[in-house]
Amino acid sequence: GTPPARVPIPTPHGRCWVDGSCEVRPGPEFLTRSYTFHPNRLFHAYQFYYEDPSCQKPAHSVLMKGKVRLRRASWVTRGATEADYHLHKVGIVFHSRGALLAVAERLGLSQASQDCARRLPPAGAWLPGAVYELLGAQAEQDCAAALGFTMHELSLVRVQRHLQPQPRAPSRLVEELYLGDIHTDAERRHYRLTATAPLQSASHVHHHSHPCLVCGLVSHADEHHPPVLPPPVALALRLQGRWVSSGCEARPAVLFLTRLFTFHGHNRSWEGHYHHFSDPACQQPTFTVYATGRYTNGTPSAKVRGGTELVFEVTRAHVTPMDQVITAMLNFSKPGSCGGPGAWSMGTER
Ligand SMILES: *[C@@H]1O[C@H](CO)[C@@H](O)[C@H](O)[C@H]1NC(C)=O
Ligand SMILES: *[C@@H]1O[C@H](CO)[C@@H](O)[C@H](O)[C@H]1NC(C)=O
Repeated sequence: GTPPARVPIPTPHGRCWVDGSCEVRPGPEFLTRSYTFHPNRLFHAYQFYYEDPSCQKPAHSVLMKGKVRLRRASWVTRGATEADYHLHKVGIVFHSRGALLAVAERLGLSQASQDCARRLPPAGAWLPGAVYELLGAQAEQDCAAALGFTMHELSLVRVQRHLQPQPRAPSRLVEELYLGDIHTDAERRHYRLTATAPLQSASHVHHHSHPCLVCGLVSHADEHHPPVLPPPVALALRLQGRWVSSGCEARPAVLFLTRLFTFHGHNRSWEGHYHHFSDPACQQPTFTVYATGRYTNGTPSAKVRGGTELVFEVTRAHVTPMDQVITAMLNFSKPGSCGGPGAWSMGTER
């Protein structure tokens, strides 16, 4: 296709961006982030990791400093900019001896990272507040990457503004920073995009009217004072009813979608509509999935305290391609193998 026209793009520079809630990533990992982009392309980023899914027990904090250069408008994700980054320094602070042991154990698993494990102190010599360098002037090997601390999410950047409705108050202008990770093969033919949760601009969090309590906590934190989030309100699980996304969701691997679920408690069946989009404003539809099935009674989770584990079974699924590319892709499947006989067409559910 033709590359997008050159228009001035809002950049993340000159501001601090923070998480508005405790982020849960596959693993599971629990974290909050605070990224500051200086006007001169330099950035410093904090990633605060926790032991618990409420982000109340800090485990370790990672500080990264580097340089990011916005390169060109992305032709994969509309409105986004591809970027290059370079890390100058990565340091880690452990908030408990147990956190040090957990990280050292991860490093000890592979031969390549065992040299990095030597950079960390033995558990007995751990000093609260000490910063251990994983990458930088003194570090001859990149131990940040060995531990999985990277900033690949800076390869795709998008700043978005939208009006957020508020109960009993005028709508508030919210600025969000979407970051993504682009993986390409050598010929740049196949892209795999993963998006992280959006960060919010922290420029107004000092203002009393700012409704984001967590944003304020995260923006005032540093590697020695990780943010401790307020305890979640425990509610009994009542799935029954209809649940909708409060906005366009950015999710790792899936990218952008909105979801609508209906749970029928009396016969333990569920229905879900997954509307997928190619852009972070959820305006360019790609395909929709409608799925139905049954679910089990919940049992308290052993892994995630306060969580409930349920098993969802899909008994029927319908797909509606919403753009030419997806339609053509489905059309390439062996005739009759997917969606019954006949060809797929845009906007038709099968
Ligand atoms: C369960 O009940 C809902 C509404 O009462 C109905 O629409 C749905 O088809 C039922 N599902 C099954 C699997 O019986
Ligand atoms: C899908 O396949 C049919 C039959 O081969 C063809 O007529 C149609 O143009 C195809 N559609 C797309 C979007 O590729």
